[in-house]
Amino acid sequence: MIDPFGRTISYLRVSVTDRCDFRCTYCMSEHMTFLPKKDLLTLEELDRLCTAFIEKGVKKLRLTGGEPLVRKNIMHLIGELSRHLQSGALEELTLTTNGSQLARFASELAGHGVRRINVSLDTLDPDKFRAITRWGDFNRVMEGIDAAQEAGIKVKLNAVALKGFNDHEIPEMIRWAHGRGMDLTLIETMPMGEIDLDRTDQYLPLSLLRSQLAEEFTMNDIAYKTGGPARYVEIEETGGRVGFITPMTHNFCESCNRVRLTCTGTLYMCLGQEDAADLREPLRASEGNELLNNAIDEAIGRKPKGHDFIIDRRHNRPAVSRHMSVTGG
Ligand code: 5AD
Ligand code: SF4
Repeated sequence: MIDPFGRTISYLRVSVTDRCDFRCTYCMSEHMTFLPKKDLLTLEELDRLCTAFIEKGVKKLRLTGGEPLVRKNIMHLIGELSRHLQSGALEELTLTTNGSQLARFASELAGHGVRRINVSLDTLDPDKFRAITRWGDFNRVMEGIDAAQEAGIKVKLNAVALKGFNDHEIPEMIRWAHGRGMDLTLIETMPMGEIDLDRTDQYLPLSLLRSQLAEEFTMNDIAYKTGGPARYVEIEETGGRVGFITPMTHNFCESCNRVRLTCTGTLYMCLGQEDAADLREPLRASEGNELLNNAIDEAIGRKPKGHDFIIDRRHNRPAVSRHMSVTGG
């Protein structure tokens, strides 16, 4: 799959549910309206869609949400998808999780060939953790991380940089993560969906944070890549890596290799644009994949050049109306 700007699409992210057992303040409002259950694709349909994408050249598949591990029977889907790892068609099957269910599922995930996962963690302070996630239990997430590491899964942490909330804590998080063999990636908040707070108050440009970190650490730019938009530095003092995902201050769209599928079968060609393609109808219209494949080709053919996120007082509206939990991060 090659888009109009010559970018090869080899990475599919699938939000298997838009529901979540947390309510992170920068992600959701406290009272969310979720997609109607009747519109959900079944696990079999999700499998069929993922398989169609793999046949079209997708090499890396990431399950996201919402929280992917709260979807009922999700392990069944992961088990089925692992056949593509065995056949070699798929290079990597991974997921982004808030960690709340990891203690339960880590060894099964490892058994299905999941080698790496991303765990979202914005603070190491249990009280602040409760405040930012509204509903989350810090200790359960810690147990989840332990379980994943014990199962041999490589864990990368994702932290959203939030002004006045975790900026001063980042050095400590870096030392803690690196001490346990985990990379840490910092993310700028993106204006996606209505939340209860003002995003201008939360937004912290990573350029600023990076110069603060430079006062404490020796940071060397490295070419390391994980297939995503993060740019990495190696910290001399710890020997670990810190990634920067900067959708706001540095646009990385020119190397975009991905598209995103929702749990209702809507394909978003860009995280920051409203344009989407419905794949559920062509999927359900026939048992063969001809209609589906045509719909996928047509969608890739109109993948936009990039996003145009802005957060400031004059643009205090979400760039897109849907929340991150609909399409996954
Ligand atoms: N901006 C940036 N990151 C976000 N996430 C959720 N909502 C937003 C947002 N509006 C993050 C989560 C998780 C990843 C999937 O996306 O914290 O790490
Ligand atoms: Fe759930 Fe992740 Fe959104 Fe937090 S950021 S509410 S864990 S989907």
